[in-house]
Amino acid sequence: MPDAIHVEREGGLLTLRLNRPDKKNALTRAMYAQLAEALSEADQSPEINAVLITGSAECFTAGNDIADFIEQPPSNLDSPVFHFMLSLLDCRKPVIAAVAGAAVGIGTTLLLHCDLVYVSRDARLRMPFVNLGLCPEFGSSLILPRLLGHAKAAELLLLGEGFSGEQAAVWGVATEALGSGEAALAKAREMALRFEALPAEAVRISKQLMKAPDRELLRKVIEEEGALFTERLRSPEALAALSGFINRR
Ligand code: COA
Repeated sequence: MPDAIHVEREGGLLTLRLNRPDKKNALTRAMYAQLAEALSEADQSPEINAVLITGSAECFTAGNDIADFIEQPPSNLDSPVFHFMLSLLDCRKPVIAAVAGAAVGIGTTLLLHCDLVYVSRDARLRMPFVNLGLCPEFGSSLILPRLLGHAKAAELLLLGEGFSGEQAAVWGVATEALGSGEAALAKAREMALRFEALPAEAVRISKQLMKAPDRELLRKVIEEEGALFTERLRSPEALAALSGFINRR
């Protein structure tokens, strides 16, 4: 079976490509663990100056693997999904995302922690946590209302409404929306490679300054959300919704 996370080096750029096309790049525990390890290594390595996270030109990710949510739900902050998200939060190097097609659940949430986000205009972003009997995760209950205002964020987080890549760029969830998946991937790579020519220390300090004011509050919110999310995963509401997806055919 090919590696579900494809890791590529191009000079100082490390690309992590989600590669599980038969399951729309849904993320398993093993994939989170691999992503966490790669991000931590990139953070430590003096040879890496930026990380690009992408899927294919057709699909970014359908979010957490739903079978995993039922069979091996994360139970605490020591679970692979938390390791991944915390390594993303802690990464001192710029992280760039290229998004086309579906970006569901954590596929949208993780974008809120990247530095540059290039999407196709017709990308489909959605955080259907309530629809699955769950709740927002990894700081989205803090970041989205601040970015969009409570009333708009409520549409996304309390109704689980989806939105396009074009809208994501208008709201500032994405840096830029491009005409196709290929164009989004190409633009993300082009911008990620620019860090090669920039003074690495100055970039690192600048990112740190941008993230510092909210760092502690964000951690606190992530822990609160995480405790509720893991509890919700075992709730009758969530178990019914998650099994509904598995048995939908
Ligand atoms: N976990 C596990 N498997 C998933 C998955 C997920 N999150 N999302 C998709 N898949 C699987 C499907 O079960 C299907 O597998 P099968 O062919 O063995 O039955 C395959 O991927 C293709 O999915 P399908 O739904 O047929 O593709 P689509 O193009 O019609 O729709 C999505 C794509 C992403 C819109 C849709 O699959 C979806 O809504 N997935 C669930 C997203 C979700 O709720 N994620 C969790 C958020 S917390």
